Amino acid sequence: MQAIVYESKTGNTKRYAEILGQKTGLPVYSHKEASRHLNRQDEIIYLGWLFASIIKGYKKAAEHYDVKAVCGVGMRRAGEEALKDMIKQNHISDPNAFYLQGGYDVNKLSGIYKFMMKMMSKVILKEIEKKETKTDEDLETIDMINNGRSLVKVENLASILEWLKTIS
Ligand SMILES: Cc1cc2nc3c(=O)[nH]c(=O)nc-3n(C[C@H](O)[C@H](O)[C@H](O)COP(=O)(O)O)c2cc1C
Repeated sequence: MQAIVYESKTGNTKRYAEILGQKTGLPVYSHKEASRHLNRQDEIIYLGWLFASIIKGYKKAAEHYDVKAVCGVGMRRAGEEALKDMIKQNHISDPNAFYLQGGYDVNKLSGIYKFMMKMMSKVILKEIEKKETKTDEDLETIDMINNGRSLVKVENLASILEWLKTIS
């Protein structure tokens, strides 16, 4: 494995990439700067933030590099469903896919992204409001939308670190 490459809008994915870099000793590059350091078909781990279910930059990264593992970072809680949806929406055929919960902070967004998320947040909050009983995840989502939160945790990288052990 040559490097960790990431795309991040508000810093959560960057943070995961940096932690993964510290844990593995692999160099970490933003997708923009990666071509200055890497050759075509070099083996990488790619991390991208989720934009309307799409892992930002993954398609391009897969065209240039040999993506050995891909991590999508979104605002929803990690779990089988989040991972299954991500694999389906991004047409990932390789089994080495990981979903990580990042966070959300409207104040770190601007332009079209801010506009889109403001609309989406309204819809999400309305849906939660309709529910008679709110789950922990619902409360977490309300808090994230209203107050801005990063839920990046080192522990969330456990499964990718486990997988890395199996290939080294
Ligand atoms: C326009 C927009 C669309 C998003 N769509 C999704 C989505 O489909 N699924 C999801 O889990 N999170 C979605 N998010 C939330 C981001 O993926 C989340 O905030 C992530 O942590 C951002 O990573 P970053 O801090 O590295 O930019 C969206 C955010 C924006 C701004």
